[in-house]
Amino acid sequence: MSARKTIQVAIVGCGGITLQNHLPGLALCPDVKLSALCDSDPAKLERARQQTGVTAVSTDYSQIVARDDVDAVIIATPNFTHSPIALAAITHGKHVLCEKPLALNFADALAMAQAAEAKGVRHMTAFTYRFVPAMRYLLHLVQQGDLGQPYHYRSCRLQDWGTRGLGWRQNKRAAGSGELGDMLSHRIDFAHLLVGPVNRLVANTRCWHPVRGDQPNDLEDWVALLAEFKCGATGVLESSKLASGRNESWRSLDYVEINGSEGSFVFVTGEWNRLQGGKVGGPGLETIPVPEEFWKCPGSPRDARQGDPLVTFRYDQAWEFIDAIRNQRACVPDFRDGARAQEVMDAALRSAQTQQWVDLPASVV
Ligand SMILES: NC(=O)c1ccc[n+]([C@@H]2O[C@H](COP(=O)([O-])OP(=O)(O)OC[C@H]3O[C@@H](n4cnc5c(N)ncnc54)[C@H](O)[C@@H]3O)[C@@H](O)[C@H]2O)c1
Repeated sequence: MSARKTIQVAIVGCGGITLQNHLPGLALCPDVKLSALCDSDPAKLERARQQTGVTAVSTDYSQIVARDDVDAVIIATPNFTHSPIALAAITHGKHVLCEKPLALNFADALAMAQAAEAKGVRHMTAFTYRFVPAMRYLLHLVQQGDLGQPYHYRSCRLQDWGTRGLGWRQNKRAAGSGELGDMLSHRIDFAHLLVGPVNRLVANTRCWHPVRGDQPNDLEDWVALLAEFKCGATGVLESSKLASGRNESWRSLDYVEINGSEGSFVFVTGEWNRLQGGKVGGPGLETIPVPEEFWKCPGSPRDARQGDPLVTFRYDQAWEFIDAIRNQRACVPDFRDGARAQEVMDAALRSAQTQQWVDLPASVV
């Protein structure tokens, strides 16, 4: 019997999310070799080289994506670089896992999806919070009909980031949007997953602090959307970096509630192994434990009882990418999912600018 082929992966961008998610996630996947690294900052590249022992390194991504010993590329760079790096990797026939938000606008995101499909490579958007066990179980309950007809989708992401500097995240040219792409993109993806496509929306944004650290900030600290879904359900989505006193990361509020004709469910990222749920006409919400079979993706090599579960669920993302490559199946979520969220983000920015409702076109994604 022939040995299983080793999948060789390169990472472009060796900053925060690579150290936190991508490296440990890949390390858990059997028969995967981290073969090359790229960062435009030589100091970050050297740190990652020392940490991983990978010797094929470059500050120029075009050299990395062209290598014969690279089958797949993970892109974890500032948002404005996602599209050019992904297109270069796809041109060389590499599978691509790209961080969210997928691009700076819908046209670029759709072009990335189309290029990947035309080349026949695997493509994945890093909507990491889909891998929270409670979200995977919630999707299962919705798909089996426990919600009934969806009435309302509600999400609230509240963090306390104060006035500190955010580097490229406070620069429109580099990030495209602020809180919208950074945090709300995940919750727009949840809405698509649980309720379906958006028909029209109205949005508002607010930049409270035009200076963060000692640098100009030209992006929003707060965003809110009022949405109507194609299925008729309504949506209210809010996200803020200025919910003072609420802390940040998964220690702060990441709340989703859906109400339907059969009942309601509440998801909170910090409560990874339980939901709150209630049946129509019932006495109120009660705790629904997430069954152990949902604590990780089926087939994931991770031991769901090892490590901090609010960190380790993220590693299933790398496994999903690698398993899709190995089995020549579509990644979930893929670039189409990333483009779909981008289409909503574009509409939200247009609405905030014009102060008008914006219709989303009959879905092209
Ligand atoms: N999925 C998630 O939950 C999640 C969480 C955090 C960040 N992200 C996304 O990941 C991406 C990176 O975020 P981060 O927090 O790691 O940022 P970061 O600033 O910590 O790291 C980005 C790295 O990319 C490097 N870089 C910049 N331009 C480059 C280029 N042209 N070629 C190669 N390297 C380049 C920088 O030097 C830096 O080391 C962003 O798109 C962000 O939205 C996603």
